[in-house]
Amino acid sequence: MVHWTAEEKAAIASVFGKVDLEHDGGDALGRLLVVYPWTQRYFSSFGSLSNETAIYGNAKVQAHGKKVLAALNNAAHHLDTIKADLRDLSYSHANTLHIDPENFRRFGEVFVIVLAGKLGSSFTPSVQAAFEKFFAVVVDALSHEYH
Ligand code: HEM
Repeated sequence: MVHWTAEEKAAIASVFGKVDLEHDGGDALGRLLVVYPWTQRYFSSFGSLSNETAIYGNAKVQAHGKKVLAALNNAAHHLDTIKADLRDLSYSHANTLHIDPENFRRFGEVFVIVLAGKLGSSFTPSVQAAFEKFFAVVVDALSHEYH
């Protein structure tokens, strides 16, 4: 099982204490779709994703980002059961949605950019390190059902 130090737990809790659950997930997903445009193909039912303005103004992108962030927030509050808690999502992303798992890592990268912009100097290197470890565990859990 992954070991979390008290400092790591505090850092992860502080990050998620400052996250805006309504908007930050949509911002991160929007950034993913702009920076890595080939990820748009998974969201063909979402309507127009033709440019940055369309992506950020797309209500389905925002709503979906909110769902993703809710799952991450839940994981952040249950660090010791991430693998089991994300098993069903791993199964659906692998077998129903056919998402290339490399995109999980990319989502982590854009989410870090969103956090850095939002948290500024409080997103210290140590806080980022704890967040990166958290996200690596999430990616590992989401990748678990890929065979
Ligand atoms: C659906 C979580 C990354 C593509 C979902 C749902 C959740 C979720 C909670 C909704 C499941 C449901 O309604 O039952 C996550 C988490 C991620 C992640 C925690 C963390 C990295 C990604 C990435 C992509 C992706 C990187 C694609 C590039 C999708 C798609 C759906 C979905 C296409 C279905 C959307 C729809 O048609 O409503 N994900 N996801 N996910 N996810 Fe992810």
